[in-house]
Amino acid sequence: MSNVDMTVRIGGLTLKNPVLVSSGTFGYGREFADFIDLNKLGGIITKAITPKPRAGNPPPRIIETPAGVLNAIGLENCGLDVFIKDKLPYLKDLSAAIVVNVAGACESDYVEVVSSLSKEDGVDAFEINISCPNVKHGGIEFGTDAGRAGELVANLRSATKLPLIIKLSPNVADVCEIAAGAEAAGADAFSLVNTYRGMAIDIAKERPVLGNKIGGLSGPAIKPLALYQVWKLYQSVKLPIIGMGGIMNHIDAIEFIYAGASAVSVGTANFIDPSASVKIVDGLSTWLAEKSPRGFEYFIGRAHRA
Ligand SMILES: Cc1cc2nc3c(=O)[nH]c(=O)nc-3n(C[C@H](O)[C@H](O)[C@H](O)COP(=O)(O)O)c2cc1C
Repeated sequence: MSNVDMTVRIGGLTLKNPVLVSSGTFGYGREFADFIDLNKLGGIITKAITPKPRAGNPPPRIIETPAGVLNAIGLENCGLDVFIKDKLPYLKDLSAAIVVNVAGACESDYVEVVSSLSKEDGVDAFEINISCPNVKHGGIEFGTDAGRAGELVANLRSATKLPLIIKLSPNVADVCEIAAGAEAAGADAFSLVNTYRGMAIDIAKERPVLGNKIGGLSGPAIKPLALYQVWKLYQSVKLPIIGMGGIMNHIDAIEFIYAGASAVSVGTANFIDPSASVKIVDGLSTWLAEKSPRGFEYFIGRAHRA
């Protein structure tokens, strides 16, 4: 990697480079250790963690579409205790920042995960998932109501000093309204987008394909939509933004940075090429070396200038 300053700050969190990997597309991190050097990443965002283990939705839970995937995993995860005992000890020795994605069926679930993990070594920040479109209770209920989002963030703020990154849903009329509630309540940063609600029908069976019937669309199909959400949010909040949605290469990542993201996160691309994220780190580094002696942060939101 060339010798350029790729450091970015997300609230109180400093990342050595602006590339993270997205929740639910990278397991608990270790699953990718045979393919890439995890220490090259700016950060790893874990699978959503809930207080108790969750089995998730009935299959099929993930299907391909022409330019992306539809998933309805339903927050399957190992639960808080197993995460602390079996997953965190490995993660805490990595130099990538560890961001734990937190989900729950009710407010106390989120508070339990955040307060327990704040006492453990190795967690650098939380990404609060108020945007999962694939579960019956929790998540999206907070992400579609500015008042409830604000209340949740205020409670989490009193439960931790670690940075709170609020993950927003694009499945709302105005993402800025939800963000304003969270910003006023003490959030440190935003990440967006989570998946767009979608579905597929099996015409032979005359039924929806996904076990959950509806799911969330991700991948290149959503990139222009996601980019617009980042662009819009940048104009309405002061807090830093982690941009995601269909990022496949470093050019896509630069578009998000110009639109206003301080960092980017790579999701569906990990399924196509497990080394996509480190290729993006290398691509950004080469781009920056050729482009300018300035550090990376200079380019955040550049496309907004008059
Ligand atoms: C299979 C799958 C599982 C996901 N699980 C989660 C999750 O547990 N928590 C979460 O906040 N987002 C989850 N997401 C959403 C991604 O983190 C990301 O926001 C979204 O896929 C858009 O980025 P992409 O187009 O690069 O994949 C999941 C996405 C996929 C494809």
